[in-house]
Amino acid sequence: MHAVRGIQKALCRHAGGIVRSGIRTYVSRTQMKKYGGEQFEKSFGYCSVVEADNKDPNTRVVDMRSDTVSMPTDEMRQAMAEAVVGDDVYLEDPTVTALEIKAAEMFGKESALFVPSGTMGNLISVMIHCQERGSEAIVGDKCHIFKYEQGGISQFGGIHVKVIPNLKDGTFLLDDVMTSIRTDDIHYPRTKVLCLENTHNICGGKVLPLAYIDKITQFARKHGIPSVHMDGARIFNAAAALNVPVSRILENVDSVSCCLSKGLCAPVGSIIAGTDRFVSEARRLRKALGGGMRQVGHLAAAGLISLEKMVLRLVEDHRRAQHLAQSIAALKSPFFTVDLPGTHSNIVMIDLQTDRVPPEVFCKRLVSVTDAEKTHLGQSVLVRLFPFGNHVARAVICNNLTDEDIDLAIGKLQYFAQELQH
Ligand SMILES: Cc1ncc(COP(=O)(O)O)c(C=O)c1O
Repeated sequence: MHAVRGIQKALCRHAGGIVRSGIRTYVSRTQMKKYGGEQFEKSFGYCSVVEADNKDPNTRVVDMRSDTVSMPTDEMRQAMAEAVVGDDVYLEDPTVTALEIKAAEMFGKESALFVPSGTMGNLISVMIHCQERGSEAIVGDKCHIFKYEQGGISQFGGIHVKVIPNLKDGTFLLDDVMTSIRTDDIHYPRTKVLCLENTHNICGGKVLPLAYIDKITQFARKHGIPSVHMDGARIFNAAAALNVPVSRILENVDSVSCCLSKGLCAPVGSIIAGTDRFVSEARRLRKALGGGMRQVGHLAAAGLISLEKMVLRLVEDHRRAQHLAQSIAALKSPFFTVDLPGTHSNIVMIDLQTDRVPPEVFCKRLVSVTDAEKTHLGQSVLVRLFPFGNHVARAVICNNLTDEDIDLAIGKLQYFAQELQH
């Protein structure tokens, strides 16, 4: 029962993003099951521990699981309330139109389209490039499209995938791309699109070098791949890290999908962009997939602030990620470390010595508090990380976190490093 309450509270907290004492239950046990409470417990298995510690009003929760937990700013909330809206399926929502025009301009593309999520953005984009039956998309083995979108491009688009290895930095070997291109043979599907991801999430927020993007897009063109799509869920993080306009990164790709709801803090939504033709086809497909939205200017209003203002502050997230990574490296713990030169943006991958601390154990320990630790740190600190694969815990920095939060997390990790020595 205690554990169930913990999950319920954790779900409530996720629903509101607020730690409120005295909340018993917003959701019944049946509702919790319906909305995936048990699954939630599995993937964020440490949440029941949070409840116990949150009884203490001095508990600080530093949530670094993902930038998807970012909250809309006060300015966004106000803009959303005041937005002028209309029926966007009828092309009558001026705020959505303003967002799409602004995005197309920033991306250096003819047109852009507001879509409900990054997953739908990728699905629509790849499906537009692969409209002919018997098409194939070349994707990386660590890319989001392949790993985390339920195989949607195959499931809904009937698209065959050719999976090639992503190197540690998120790039591909040109040779692997070369050998994946189908020749014109009756036995083969037809290669229609090459998918890149930038920054590369699983590879630890790696920024693809501009020279690489130029080279691989030229290579694709030269060898007859008709289009290149970029999953740019965090493309503005790449632009901030490279200190170039986002249009420079996208110069040679045919389409992009960019999330407004991660580091850019909008509550919902992504933008896809490309040629006018690409976007008008995408608009049709969005409707078929159930993604045509009506008075959605209320959400686009937040997205406009993402593009106008929030993109400018991503460097702050990167600075905080660097500080966290440097501090972890400085601990010189034999049990966990980071690849400092590999920390390019807002993601810090903590490599674990898995015999001693597998990711689940590491993450669970960081959201629990011992009495000795509380005395040592002067308060209870819970650090939420995401257990990632077999040997990594992922920390992602976003606007929710302050310098003080990062220092609290570092203090906790320092304490844990010493604890592991004993
Ligand atoms: C690289 C990448 N692409 C696409 C997505 C999908 O975005 P959404 O959660 O909005 O569907 C994510 C989400 O984490 C992502 O990291």
